[in-house]
Amino acid sequence: MQQLNLGMIGGGTVGSGVFHALQRNGALLAARIGVQINVRKVAVKAFDEPRPYTIPRKRMTTDWTEVVNDPQVQIVTELVGGTGLAKTMILAALQRGKPVITANKALLSQHGEELFAAARKSGANLYYEASVCGGIPIIKALREGFVGNRINALYGIVNGTCNYILTRMKREGADFDVVLKDAQAQGYAETPPDLDIDGHDAEHKTGILASLAHGFWVKPGQIYVEGIRHLSTLDIQYAEQLGYTIKLLGMVKRTGRAPEIQVSVYPTLVPNTHVLANVNDVFNAVFVRGDVVGDTLFYGRGAGKDATASAVLSDLADAALDLKQASQLRVPPFVACERNGRVVPRDEIVSRYFVRLSVVDKPGVLAKVSAILGQAKIGIASVIQPEGHKGVSVPLILMLHAAPNGAVARALGKIGKLPVVKAKPVMIRVENFD
Ligand code: HSE
Repeated sequence: MQQLNLGMIGGGTVGSGVFHALQRNGALLAARIGVQINVRKVAVKAFDEPRPYTIPRKRMTTDWTEVVNDPQVQIVTELVGGTGLAKTMILAALQRGKPVITANKALLSQHGEELFAAARKSGANLYYEASVCGGIPIIKALREGFVGNRINALYGIVNGTCNYILTRMKREGADFDVVLKDAQAQGYAETPPDLDIDGHDAEHKTGILASLAHGFWVKPGQIYVEGIRHLSTLDIQYAEQLGYTIKLLGMVKRTGRAPEIQVSVYPTLVPNTHVLANVNDVFNAVFVRGDVVGDTLFYGRGAGKDATASAVLSDLADAALDLKQASQLRVPPFVACERNGRVVPRDEIVSRYFVRLSVVDKPGVLAKVSAILGQAKIGIASVIQPEGHKGVSVPLILMLHAAPNGAVARALGKIGKLPVVKAKPVMIRVENFD
């Protein structure tokens, strides 16, 4: 059987997970692809850095250049993360014609264009299944399974930390800060948690999915992002009363002015009847609507050493097959096939809205609010006003019909200045998946 040598850069949680998975299932992989993969070297930060699985001392080095420069190493994994040295490592391996496998979403999202151009030039592929939703084979599905589809819409719960926090806030009626602290104590949320809870981890993943699905690279700055920090249990409870669950959704939608797409990440009211409303705890899910296939759903663990290792092994099989066949017969990892792609700016994004106002409970308030919305041509779909005491501020919940983001933001700015409105209006978008 053909033998290929793997050089790994990164031997921490994910790297040692890959090493372990290869030991466990390397023979199975070999039987399936006809190639035996041997781990030749693993570059680590330090020999004694904490790692969940042991890597034999004789395989390790602390010099990553030894991995890429070793003429016996034919495939390289970059599992160190970060956007500085990791980029140098990937480019160095590609320049030597070696296929690279990465889990680095932040790097790809920011520099995907340059990295895939380098891969094309070198004739070696850059694989990234592990960069989005860990163990869910969503990259493979979009790249190969849906190669014959236009992706009309894609909705993803792509950040396990946020999903865990939102699930507990809803289940327990607990405040964001309390749940976050507990999630950190239990190791479900990082310290500091900003990348996850401010939506940037989801932004990176959503950008990668948008780029792959639409054939032009969507950079982080082009994506409209809101995190979950500002969400209150009150909004989660009112949403529930209306039949919705709040989820942080990454969205990629064709706008009807193709090749224009919406690419965004924000907390969204999802109808409880929709399958994504029932994806809970740390689980991820991606709902894809193709123009030929219709609606499909992918569900699984989005993080963790073993789920991520599963994705790396899948890429490893593809990289090994590239080398075995001495050609790239399959659909390339990324093809820049759309020259005129455009991401719709935030103000032009059209959605429905949940709005919570804190108002003085007296006659005429609703008329004042609806007059401002009416002038902006924004329709009210429904109103709930729980009973209050005269003179005391009470919540006024409005569900708004579809309207552009900019128009709604301007109208809410005016509403927020009405003397009868006692706090900054809360606005959360609503998705009906139609
Ligand atoms: N921090 C991420 C999450 C996992 O919470 O989903 C790594 O992408």
